[in-house]
Amino acid sequence: MVAFTLNGATVQVVAEGTPLLHVLRGECGLSGPRFGCGAEQCGACVVLVDGAPAYACTMGVEAVAGRSVTTVEGLGSAAAPHPLQRAFLAEQAGQCGFCLSGILVAAAALLARDPDPDDGAIRDALDPHLCRCGSHNRIIRAVQRAAAEMRA
Ligand code: FES
Ligand code: FES
Repeated sequence: MVAFTLNGATVQVVAEGTPLLHVLRGECGLSGPRFGCGAEQCGACVVLVDGAPAYACTMGVEAVAGRSVTTVEGLGSAAAPHPLQRAFLAEQAGQCGFCLSGILVAAAALLARDPDPDDGAIRDALDPHLCRCGSHNRIIRAVQRAAAEMRA
């Protein structure tokens, strides 16, 4: 049994020896974190562990025992979206959306440590994330838009 905090609530899972991503998507029923490559090459699986981006595809669930995990579901909801989620919609910063759950949590971590990032800082923070739809410029605009809203 492994216990950790998931999006603010304590959970206990039985899937020891399993990558965190599969536990989140399976036992925890969260479809936000995605499986892309399984090899730390695409960023689709990224979640926050104690506020820092982490690859859930290669991290064993035991590594988050006693720690705090945040997925895109923990950022906001349809009824109360996070400023990043509002900004991504406003800028239409996604097409298929497959990459966005990882990008959104990584952007949230960036804005938590740097409320006024320049484009270079956003590119650096999102560099581990592939977007095969080529939405990169809109994604950068959306992060800038959310940052401005959060500073206001
Ligand atoms: S699925 Fe984890 S980095 Fe691609
Ligand atoms: S919106 Fe399709 S991969 Fe990024």
